[in-house]
Amino acid sequence: MERPLELHDIQGTVLRNRPMPYYGSYVLFSIDDPKAAKTLVRRLVPYVTSAADWENPAENAWINVVFTFEGLKRLGLDPSILAGFPIEFKQGMAARKEFLGDTGDSDPQHWDMPHGNNGFHIGMLVMAGSEALRDEKLAIGHNAIAALKGVKTISRLDVGIPPTMREHFGYTDGLSRPFIEGEGGEPLPGQGTPFKPGEFLLGYENELGVMATGPGPEELWRNGTYISIRKLRQKVFAFRQYLKQQADTEDGQEFVAAKMMGRWRSGCPMALSPDKDNPELAKDKYLNNDFAYLNDDPDGKKTPEGSHIRRVNPRDSLDNTATNSRLHKLLRRGTAYGPVLPADATEDDGQDRGLVLALINANPGRQFEFVQSQWVNDGDFISQGRRTDPIVGSRSQVDDYVYPGKPARKHITGLPDFAVTRGGEHVFLPGLNGLKWLVDYDRNL
Ligand code: HEM
Repeated sequence: MERPLELHDIQGTVLRNRPMPYYGSYVLFSIDDPKAAKTLVRRLVPYVTSAADWENPAENAWINVVFTFEGLKRLGLDPSILAGFPIEFKQGMAARKEFLGDTGDSDPQHWDMPHGNNGFHIGMLVMAGSEALRDEKLAIGHNAIAALKGVKTISRLDVGIPPTMREHFGYTDGLSRPFIEGEGGEPLPGQGTPFKPGEFLLGYENELGVMATGPGPEELWRNGTYISIRKLRQKVFAFRQYLKQQADTEDGQEFVAAKMMGRWRSGCPMALSPDKDNPELAKDKYLNNDFAYLNDDPDGKKTPEGSHIRRVNPRDSLDNTATNSRLHKLLRRGTAYGPVLPADATEDDGQDRGLVLALINANPGRQFEFVQSQWVNDGDFISQGRRTDPIVGSRSQVDDYVYPGKPARKHITGLPDFAVTRGGEHVFLPGLNGLKWLVDYDRNL
């Protein structure tokens, strides 16, 4: 390994596991006056949590601070530095809508967060193990902005894990994540060869053998990264209805749900238990991610090639192709928002509920945007034509799903959009020194 991770300088969310259960908030600010914005960030910096004690946090709560491109611009960053940021970050996620499949009901004109069109400039991400701790952290933000003119709080979205401890479609989440070289400890079975830190952090070597860097002085980008944020509204009633149309029994519905995800809703991988759920296996971290596809399941008889988890992480199944799946890896931090739809609901209650995905990647084009456009919203790489991900894909062109079955393959049709985009942005998460550099940067002020 080239050099150890500088944990004290990396913002905590990159490595910290969410507490369980967890209570979080996304607080978004807009900037009219750069001096006020710098004062806000300067006041927040002492409270920003690093990854230093990530394995054994002294406190079960953290604050992290991110910027949109427009935010960096409004802080007065030199145009020559701004020009060097990745195009996806510079344009903002809404401008990438055609490429990302954000059309129709997912079009940015329907987005309800000030995401997109660079509608917010600074974000404060709070995560905590209790509501009281979250509120303490929120009070820090509240105090930091108090009496400041020229910077405003424009949105707060509370997130967490529903009381069911599952995401809204009923699946256990947060089971598979890449192991980063130097993060400490040993990879769990199934995590495979550790990933070069440069896939998730600037200032380190990446999987291509080159140092991931950013524009301008090293203090700005070292130990920083990007988060591709997606706010996805989930149509839970439609999802349940669809499963009911596919099978008369609950077991039959569970089976279809598992074939769409590649895991049973308990979290048990189909790869290890293809015909029957095994909730005990699902709970065992030494077993529940220990599978690959190339030799064990080349035709997707257990985990269909088109299922969500096999699309977004094909593991070794693309090893003999032009695509190297190690170059398209995402470190996920997903959180749910909105009330749970009661299990016995007989109609759609019209409530807004879904998932805020925070996908950490050092190269948003090669990582998040590639996965979203080529693997989620296209089926070419698995010879599935225009077919999309059965859970989160856009059905603008094709609305069916196929998986191997006995005695014949199963073909299910008429899948609606189970998830639609309601916000999205690529944000920059500097290291702690990067934050300090930004507030001390004085051009034109
Ligand atoms: C409503 C939308 C979504 C839901 C309900 C959802 C749910 C899930 C669930 C239940 C898992 C399995 C648990 C695990 O492996 O940790 C999973 C895995 C994953 N999801 Fe999603 N997801 C959604 C959208 C997305 C999107 C948009 C992306 C990326 C573009 C994505 C990327 C991933 C990745 C990389 C994995 C890990 C797969 C693996 O390593 O085997 N997900 N998701």
